[in-house]
Amino acid sequence: MKAARQASDLWWKNAVIYCLDAETFLDSDGDGCGDFAGLTQRVDYLAGMGVTCIWLMPFFPSPDLDDGYDVTDFYGVDPRLGTLGDFVEFVRTARHRGIRVIADLVVNHTSDRHPWFQAARSDRDSPYRDYYVWRDTPPADGDEGVVFPDAEDSLWELDEQTGQYYLHRFYAHQPDLNVAHPAVRDEVAKIIGFWLELGLSGFRVDAVPFFLEIESEVGDVDLDPHDYLRDLRAFLSRRRGDAVLLGEVNLDPAEQRRFFGDEDGDELHMLFNFIGMQAMYLSLARADAGALEEALRALPPVPPDNQWASFVRNHDELTLDKLSDAERAEVFAAFGPDEDMQLFGRGLRRRLPPMLDGDQRRIRMVYSLMFSLPGTPVLFYGEEIGMGENLAVEGRLSVRTPMQWSDERNAGFSDGDASTLPIAVVEDATYGSSAVNVADQRRDPESLLNWMERLIRRRSECPEFGWGEWQLIATAEPALFAHRCDWEGSTVIAVHNLSSRACTTTLEISEPDDCEGLIDLLGDRDEVPLEAGGLQLDLDPYAYRWFRVRRRGQRLLP
Ligand code: GLC
Repeated sequence: MKAARQASDLWWKNAVIYCLDAETFLDSDGDGCGDFAGLTQRVDYLAGMGVTCIWLMPFFPSPDLDDGYDVTDFYGVDPRLGTLGDFVEFVRTARHRGIRVIADLVVNHTSDRHPWFQAARSDRDSPYRDYYVWRDTPPADGDEGVVFPDAEDSLWELDEQTGQYYLHRFYAHQPDLNVAHPAVRDEVAKIIGFWLELGLSGFRVDAVPFFLEIESEVGDVDLDPHDYLRDLRAFLSRRRGDAVLLGEVNLDPAEQRRFFGDEDGDELHMLFNFIGMQAMYLSLARADAGALEEALRALPPVPPDNQWASFVRNHDELTLDKLSDAERAEVFAAFGPDEDMQLFGRGLRRRLPPMLDGDQRRIRMVYSLMFSLPGTPVLFYGEEIGMGENLAVEGRLSVRTPMQWSDERNAGFSDGDASTLPIAVVEDATYGSSAVNVADQRRDPESLLNWMERLIRRRSECPEFGWGEWQLIATAEPALFAHRCDWEGSTVIAVHNLSSRACTTTLEISEPDDCEGLIDLLGDRDEVPLEAGGLQLDLDPYAYRWFRVRRRGQRLLP
């Protein structure tokens, strides 16, 4: 049974997830806006790269004041992107190419233009009033925990018409839904059920801790948020056994664990590894693996049927909020020294390649590292070709510029007028589409794109990383991050040199009795000897190496 489960039920344990926004991927009709018809044309591109799951950023009707994270209809498709019919054609095409689709589930809040909120604010007696959270006066701590401090100074906004304040964790135009209200919980289940029925394989759950927050007057409601999350997960699994919930839970490690659920892991299947990501940048800035090692050691143990999701970059500011002020200052100094590169005092609005001055060896080392960390790798569109950011674009949108397909007009994204694009393309000579685009990189065997495709293929062939138990391997070189993953009698070892110095090291790896040597999984050498004293390695600056212990009788791909 185990083999069957590994092959499909927990497909996300060894997936390669690719996040994109249909709005900025490909415009099929020249109106300037990307759409589902365009995205469908590019499914083969993603399949060719080895992507196994697409995560769609919000595509629902929206006034687009938070790039679609402000929804006015949870059961529809934004007409700019196409129709429900186009959506289903896309999901069907992806499935045909072996790619599953998940989507953002944004139910912490709605847009203030959502009919529920319009009704709720029209009258205190509206049946929708309790869909949201109201107070006569904002609580004393109402200005704490504001997520977007550039725009808001309180979590509570006065609704003039009805004279009460409503809760909004994010922008004031995003009133929080009240999960303490049974009708809201029913709606959330219905939304999940609806999209599963249309072919989704699960959801990236937006802002989970805020969504679960029960803002009730004392004694009001008897609802344990984790019981609720467990119920939601059970509902999802009843409707579709292999569906996944991938949660945005950027909390301290001790708090994160609860979101996986009890020993059986019966809440969120996967959590983004925000802690590991932040520590990775600190380690990169210091050229010292210590911070990353410490962060991984501090992670809570993951129940067997759960998983971390690893990433280098997501669609938001690259948050460094879990680092100390001094540590964050180090990362800022290394990778985003100008104020304009920083956001909210806690993050960076740059993509990786410009942060690393375009150093290809270092960029590849970082992706090799991310793909080998315990968990499932998640790419943000454009990372595979090394896209940069457009700092001229406001706030977090700097990294959400249109996909760069070619050096043609509008980066080959759209035939429309540049003024009609949702976000302006990157223009500069180093990262603009004349220098960085899919078409050129496809023709160049040494390009980042072709390298990424090989990396993805290798990663997919190494279930040990996704399924196995991981362990750090001590080295005498602070710049080296070395670890191993063991799974069902199979072992992979990865070594990354975070520094610009060449290093020589011996990794202490005891030679298993049935070991016939080490297979070099990324390099061009076939076999590396594993000697009694361990593994001797000469590592170039920013070297990345993956090995598999070749065991007698083992039939994994060499
Ligand atoms: C999440 C999303 C972010 C969005 C916010 C409000 O943090 O990642 O992009 O603005 O939720 O929905």
